[in-house]
Amino acid sequence: MVAVAIEVENLTKKFKGFKAVDELSMRVLKGSIHGLLGPNGAGKTTTIKCILGVLTPDNGIVRVLGVQVKGDTGWFVKRNVGYVPENPRVPEWCNVYEIMYIYARLQGLSSKDCRSAILRSLETVGLSDKLQSKVGKLSRGERQRLMIAQAIVHEPELLILDEPFIGLDPEGIVEIKNLISELSASGTTVFISSHVLKELEDIVTDLTIMFKGKRVFEGDIEKLKITTSDYTVLIVTVEKETPDPMEVFSKLSFIKSYEKIKPKTYRLYLRTDRDYRGELSRALFSSGITITSMSVEEDLRTLYLRLIGLRGEHTGR
Ligand SMILES: Nc1ncnc2c1ncn2[C@@H]1O[C@H](COP(=O)(O)OP(=O)(O)OP(=O)(O)O)[C@@H](O)[C@H]1O
Ligand SMILES: [Mg+2]
Repeated sequence: MVAVAIEVENLTKKFKGFKAVDELSMRVLKGSIHGLLGPNGAGKTTTIKCILGVLTPDNGIVRVLGVQVKGDTGWFVKRNVGYVPENPRVPEWCNVYEIMYIYARLQGLSSKDCRSAILRSLETVGLSDKLQSKVGKLSRGERQRLMIAQAIVHEPELLILDEPFIGLDPEGIVEIKNLISELSASGTTVFISSHVLKELEDIVTDLTIMFKGKRVFEGDIEKLKITTSDYTVLIVTVEKETPDPMEVFSKLSFIKSYEKIKPKTYRLYLRTDRDYRGELSRALFSSGITITSMSVEEDLRTLYLRLIGLRGEHTGR
């Protein structure tokens, strides 16, 4: 049997009738690094808060490490799950040790076990030399590492991070990614949310994509590539905008969708049953439009945008 760390079944959470999470089902396998990806407002934080038992779902079931999350399971979650919230706020006048002590006690460590656990945890995140530093003096990257340190101080089986890369520079992002990979290698299951695919693509083993409260994808990065490969994305630049190339696009049945991405440049979603580039060039040429460049766009960001973009957000058909 496959071991499951988080199981969400038909989860629905409404705010005044608005469905922030809409019949979401997903499974996070033990030992995985599972990404939860979706644009702002997709429902990621709401889902995470339901998993932690902070919010009560309107419908559906959440199980964490085999235990159904309900009103009385707060203590179980605190002891077994580490949580790095989105935009964490910590008292700036406390020093690193004091903050760690508060979290360690809240997460079930006895006062006599605290010191060694705190030192070990700060060592893991590379903050051993900041023990006495005031939190207000830490850099953003150091603060984020402190938040990870508090989340692992009680050696949880499952670590949940909500948008841990926000506000970090590229170097800070790499540091946190390395840290996550190390924690995963030492046996921790990681569930991590982000609205940027780039931040997740090289560390996650599995991915759930949410859009408007619903799951639109679940699988690994390879599956994402296959799922979304029904379209070829072409970037086309023309010499001038009159006549309007979009009029030509709208008449070509092999173009599924299109959008203007900057002056004189368009992104086209083409059927993949054959190569339509020649036909497209001829159609534009015969309408008096000169193409100055044409290239196929195939990075993962495109695949992701395509997955959510083709659900009604684009111009075109
Ligand atoms: N407490 C609340 N009361 C009312 N509406 C809420 C509340 N929390 C979230 N929402 C709404 O629910 C939707 C989902 O919000 P949520 O914070 O879960 O999205 P998200 O995917 O985490 O977005 P982001 O990437 O911006 O963090 C949004 O439309 C948001 O405005
Ligand atoms: Mg959020």
